[in-house]
Amino acid sequence: MRQWQGNSIYFGGDYNPEQWPEETWPEDVDLMRRAGVNLVSVGIFSWALLEPTPGRFEFGWLDRVLDLLHDGGIQVDLATATASPPPWLARAHPETLPRRADGTILWPGGRQAYCPSSPVFRERSLELVRAVAGRYAEHPAVVMWHISNELGCHNVHCYCDVSAEAFRGWLRERYGDLDRLNDAWGTAFWSQRYGDWAEINPPRTVTAFANPTQQLDFLRFSSEELRAQLRAEREVLRTLVRQPITTNFMIGMGVKHMDYQSWASDVDLVSNDHYMTAADPQAHLGLALAADHTRGVAGGDPWLLMEHSTSAVQWQPRNVAKLPGQLRRNSLAHVARGADGVLFFQWRASRAGAEKFHSALVPHAGPDTKVFREVCQLGADLKALAEIRGSRVDADVAILFDWEAWWAVELDSHPSVDVTYADRMNALYGSLWRAGVTADVVHPSADLSGYRLVLVPTLYLVRDADVAALHRYVEAGGTAAVTYFSGIVDANDHIRLGGYPGAFRELLGVRTEEFFPLREGEKVRLDDGSTADVWTEWVHPDGAEVLASYTDGPLPGVPALTRNQVGDGAAWYVGTRLDEPATDRLVARLLAETGVRPAASAPPGVEVVRRRDGDRTWLFAINHTDTEVRLPAHGVELLTGGHCAGELALPAGEVAVVREDRT
Ligand code: GAL
Ligand code: ZN
Repeated sequence: MRQWQGNSIYFGGDYNPEQWPEETWPEDVDLMRRAGVNLVSVGIFSWALLEPTPGRFEFGWLDRVLDLLHDGGIQVDLATATASPPPWLARAHPETLPRRADGTILWPGGRQAYCPSSPVFRERSLELVRAVAGRYAEHPAVVMWHISNELGCHNVHCYCDVSAEAFRGWLRERYGDLDRLNDAWGTAFWSQRYGDWAEINPPRTVTAFANPTQQLDFLRFSSEELRAQLRAEREVLRTLVRQPITTNFMIGMGVKHMDYQSWASDVDLVSNDHYMTAADPQAHLGLALAADHTRGVAGGDPWLLMEHSTSAVQWQPRNVAKLPGQLRRNSLAHVARGADGVLFFQWRASRAGAEKFHSALVPHAGPDTKVFREVCQLGADLKALAEIRGSRVDADVAILFDWEAWWAVELDSHPSVDVTYADRMNALYGSLWRAGVTADVVHPSADLSGYRLVLVPTLYLVRDADVAALHRYVEAGGTAAVTYFSGIVDANDHIRLGGYPGAFRELLGVRTEEFFPLREGEKVRLDDGSTADVWTEWVHPDGAEVLASYTDGPLPGVPALTRNQVGDGAAWYVGTRLDEPATDRLVARLLAETGVRPAASAPPGVEVVRRRDGDRTWLFAINHTDTEVRLPAHGVELLTGGHCAGELALPAGEVAVVREDRT
């Protein structure tokens, strides 16, 4: 790992000066200095300008941009510029264009129009990386390298013939011989048996449900193909540059198809892009979950927020702008949860093109605006927080998350379309958030020994080794809570026989003989007063204690919530979809049983998180309500310079960061 943090928290954004006449550039740098910007990402979508015709490079403009930034004291995260190929590539090599499952070609004119498996794309893009890195490796402005951009954002699944051939190659590697593939895919059913590798295709548009394991393997393959692009670019960079290397992930926001957990080992620092779902009044919970997940992917290390927005985006149906104060709350919530840098898309709002209505640090109306004033304020805030750089985040709770489990659980032909991966994840996370408790979102194979409580939402596909590790964790005194439709299949998406929840039967001390999914809108009640919907199942206790049972619905009297004592710990099973108050009560019970405390006892709507570096700690408090609140705190309030002796008064919508006195 190369060291990536400088002397301050990074602050800035994507800088796309090629959209503007050169006379604008000095003013850009002046404004950046005024705002306290210290890092900009340059060249992300510059391929067509850097290589206007095949093999002929034009670096003059980029030389001048980088020199100007350096003279102004602004550091650069330089892109490899491979994110979107120029139109000439598709003209010369139409086979590089991606195809949908139904054969539709995706043409140039948007962005990222390339097949991830195309050897032509690979070769041309690496040539560009060599040229850019060779030229700027020693440029004093460059402190970081940015591979491509949001790999897979638009082109993760390509069904073209080139991809089909690559998929066959990947399958040969995975299975070695066709018998093993036929077994794994269960092709004995529906006359699907393959007699020759050449008969196999990606799961293109079919008459009925496509083979589930074929679908799952194609999702694995597709994530790996893009990861291969990341690794290929990184290998070229490694030989030419010494600065740390990253690429921007899209953790959160429902981005499903890149297994970032596996990609994380390919970068020197994890960076992430996050945009608010403007229509959701609770979008700050989604932000918090995305940030906690990014930290989990980063193994708990600090990470970089590579993109977010100062205000509205332009790609949602109704692009709600951020009210005064929201920019600050959003940015500092990422910092609270481990970001050591806060960058945005983009520096200056475009006047043309698809993103001209997307907010920026400098809006169309110029610097005399709410947005630019808040940007300057944030720059000052981040300066005041420089000392927290490198610290980590306190968390006693882990939530298990696995991209493969997500892919598998949302395949078609399942018991209920209402069972989605995000659903229980968000529900449990929401309860923790409301309780002021921070969670690490980690892979099932992560070391769990440091956690008091482990939550396991909808882990439909799970590996034996991870089940065994969870079992050992509980036996040694840990507490785990597993929700329905977990442990159902193995890595091939084959049912674990003998009763559900398959892999977790023994740990949970229950055996389910049949699922009873509910009709749309149907609700059931439990004898502890809870209400639930979507899912019920015929659970038989097999060692577990019954905590609540149904009083109505298809299964009156059948257990819905159980607890199994295992060694020194306990494993809870939640067999139905509890509503929000019931989930809050369940989580409160789990927190009480495990002795997990909030970062501070704060009123509802106030987000509290603690960062720590050895015995130095900082308490972040973010007031999402419209009234002033008070909470206990001791120490120096870094954003105001004030001192709190026991109590912090936090005005509506404000953020405080307290360097806590050691007590
Ligand atoms: C990201 C992308 C940026 C910009 C931004 C707009 O997906 O990396 O280039 O398009 O979204 O929100
Ligand atoms: Zn393809």
